[in-house]
Amino acid sequence: MIISVNNMRVFITGFMGVGKSYWASRWAAKINYNLLDTDIEIEKISGLNISAIFHLKGEKFFRELESKVLHLSTNSQNCIIATGGGCATYSDNFNFMKKNGIVVYLKASQNFLFNRLVVESDKRPLISNKSHSELKDYITKTLSEREMIYNNADVVLDAEKVSDTSILEILNYA
Ligand code: S3P
Repeated sequence: MIISVNNMRVFITGFMGVGKSYWASRWAAKINYNLLDTDIEIEKISGLNISAIFHLKGEKFFRELESKVLHLSTNSQNCIIATGGGCATYSDNFNFMKKNGIVVYLKASQNFLFNRLVVESDKRPLISNKSHSELKDYITKTLSEREMIYNNADVVLDAEKVSDTSILEILNYA
């Protein structure tokens, strides 16, 4: 069943590997919304994949492009936007999201994130060369820093329990 809702923008935030792109795409289909994924937009604009951008141009370049792409999202109505894990924590991005839509934090335990990221680290330049113990330490440290921002989202959902119908919980907030 497709549900009809108008004039909303939903930003999905949360740590790398938590499932932001996957759920954004399922929820957009369920309510017949446009889908925007900041990483995919960055790759389209730059003509490079995320790893190549970090290696060739550096993180600062990536973050500036990420903020630009996020700001461009307000050109779209009826849209679910999956943001990269660091997006909410740079520049004015988090406040920008709060002003322009509903912000969702997809929250997961460190164990859940580790199990996801350990098999998916190749395409993520910030963790691609880490040993298992370095990856665990990185998740612990970075998650605690980033949660200070993520936790201010309008809606916090347990990534280990979300489903297609969680979009209804999000819409209830509107
Ligand atoms: C990053 C997360 C990645 C991507 C980039 C940086 C981060 O997106 O934007 O590798 O700083 O956490 P995902 O959260 O979709 O993996």
